Amino acid sequence: MTGNTFGNLLKITTWGESHGPAIGVIIDGCPAGIKISEKDIQKELDRRKPGQNKLTTARKEEDKVEILSGIFESKTTGTPISLMVRNKDSKSKDYSKIKNLYRPGHADFVYDKKYGLRDHRGGGRASARETIGRVAAFAIAKKIIPKIKFSTKLISPTEKEIEDVKKQGNSIGGLIECVIKNVPAGLGSPVFDKLDAKLAQAMISIPGVKGFEVGSGFVSSVMTGSENNDEFTTKNGKITTTTNNAGGILGGISNGMDIVFRVALKPTSSIAKKQMTVDNKGKKKTIEIKGRHDPCIAVRAVPIVEAMAGLVIADEYLIQKTVK
Ligand SMILES: Cc1cc2nc3c(=O)[nH]c(=O)nc-3n(C[C@H](O)[C@H](O)[C@H](O)COP(=O)(O)O)c2cc1C
Repeated sequence: MTGNTFGNLLKITTWGESHGPAIGVIIDGCPAGIKISEKDIQKELDRRKPGQNKLTTARKEEDKVEILSGIFESKTTGTPISLMVRNKDSKSKDYSKIKNLYRPGHADFVYDKKYGLRDHRGGGRASARETIGRVAAFAIAKKIIPKIKFSTKLISPTEKEIEDVKKQGNSIGGLIECVIKNVPAGLGSPVFDKLDAKLAQAMISIPGVKGFEVGSGFVSSVMTGSENNDEFTTKNGKITTTTNNAGGILGGISNGMDIVFRVALKPTSSIAKKQMTVDNKGKKKTIEIKGRHDPCIAVRAVPIVEAMAGLVIADEYLIQKTVK
């Protein structure tokens, strides 16, 4: 089965299903001698886990990381790093009633079509629990690029909107912005491996992400060239630009300005409101999804967006070291 591995030199493979015994990641290509502890990895995972405030799902996922390989006496050894988190708060019976029903907006129908069967418990492989592996890997990626700083935040909606839709048994979408600082000029490659193309793939691979834009993005389609161009200048002997509509990337290569991109997430598809659907025999049914779902997945996607950005940048940093 393909599609579970991401990256070129720094490669991650995530594994596991939402309600299986455990979920995790294998990270290959990490240089030896990088200092990393279980605590560093746990810190990232704690940012991702649900149940931290009333705006997220009530699932209590402890998400305690276990290091299985590749790290010895708190240093990477250069061999594959394997990280695992045991699944503890899975309530598979929440899913037994809708076992044969296709949830509108979820991946049930397409998994059945592709594989002929599926693990229906908790969304199986399509569950956002898969992203635990990405966030755990980010803790390691960060150590490869210690000078590069990530700042990621939810732009919309506000708390009140989320509370209102939750009361109505409904959900809402959201927008996240990520700014990456101290990126040296020269990361990324022309044509198919453009840095913005890699970021786009990384972001759209996050469950529920439906839009990506870099710099002035979609707004650039209604701008003039003179409005959108970032004029070059020199500051403290360094070539820079006066504005940053390019979002730090030109021709697929970082230009030394902050990398700025935004990601749009759809509203959670699993909602308590009654909806029309069909079962796996095509018979018309109604569905009300009673499980513990996030009313706005964008709230919890913030550290996942940051993790994927970090994995792309660390990979590109290692690639650039082979060039120059
Ligand atoms: C942090 C996070 C939490 C999510 N939680 C839920 C959830 O509780 N219920 C749900 O139906 N979808 C949830 N999703 C979204 C689904 O995993 C996603 O919609 C599904 O896999 C179908 O993929 P697609 O939306 O990318 O097409 C979540 C996504 C993220 C990033």
